[in-house]
Amino acid sequence: MTKIVVIGSSSIDLVVTSSKRPGAGETVLGESFKTVPGGKGANQAVAAARLGADVTMIGRVGDDHFAQDILNNFKRNAVSIDYVEPVTHMESGTAHIILAEGDNSIVVVKAANNEVTPAYVDKSIQAFEDAAMVMIQQEIPVETVTHVSRICRKLGIPLLLNPAPARPLEEEVIENAAYITPNEHEAAILFPDLSVSEALRKYPNKLFITEGSRGVRYFDGSEEKLVPSYKVEVVDTTGAGDTFNAAFAVALAEGQPLYESVRFANRAASLSVTKFGAQGGMPTRREVEAQL
Ligand code: RIB
Ligand code: NA
Repeated sequence: MTKIVVIGSSSIDLVVTSSKRPGAGETVLGESFKTVPGGKGANQAVAAARLGADVTMIGRVGDDHFAQDILNNFKRNAVSIDYVEPVTHMESGTAHIILAEGDNSIVVVKAANNEVTPAYVDKSIQAFEDAAMVMIQQEIPVETVTHVSRICRKLGIPLLLNPAPARPLEEEVIENAAYITPNEHEAAILFPDLSVSEALRKYPNKLFITEGSRGVRYFDGSEEKLVPSYKVEVVDTTGAGDTFNAAFAVALAEGQPLYESVRFANRAASLSVTKFGAQGGMPTRREVEAQL
């Protein structure tokens, strides 16, 4: 089995569906409320495990009742939680999600995820042993992303950085990462002075810009590629990016070629949006392969 280490957030998503998104100062009546497992790190870990990888999570939970739900969900999905330690006197991470008018809007409270610090990663360093790929996102402190990028460079393990939610990155981190997967909005924040094409050309086979229903763009060293996405009936796009990243990491870690890895990831992401919840529609390996 291919070993993947995910360093990132674990949260509970508090999801409200409503026909209308309230504006500032406005109150609207919603239709439903559900709590489901989420957080970009946990989502990516669960997605990679469902796709057949041997996944170890490096993360933190709080000391509230959400912590147990998060840990149980990791166990149900066969994600190793040897390096997921509770933080005392702190809340677990939460994401406050409104599904309205065909799209989501999200407020993330990092809480215990702020304790995924460089020192905590150092304490968890054994987890990196035999890893074929490391994945990281940005719902944890920025210093941790820099620190992990240095560890990966030193150990020679490819790092897949999903720069979500958006924030500027140091050049060193971009250099240290093997793969970077912003959406268009995140790419504009990462490369404020470059057009999409210029950014892609600057980082051939490293930068993969996800453009939602259009597909994924990258530069292969000689030409720009657009790997089209699959058309499906959309129920909930929350977690689609996480599914894409996990599937991409699994395919790459297994040694599949780049273009095929993106295609596999697009297929997995397209299946994920057909069900409610960030992890609700995340497919198994068999489900993706049946559709390729
Ligand atoms: O990427 C989707 C995730 O982002 C949700 O599960 C929510 O936790 C938010 O942080
Ligand atoms: Na979904």
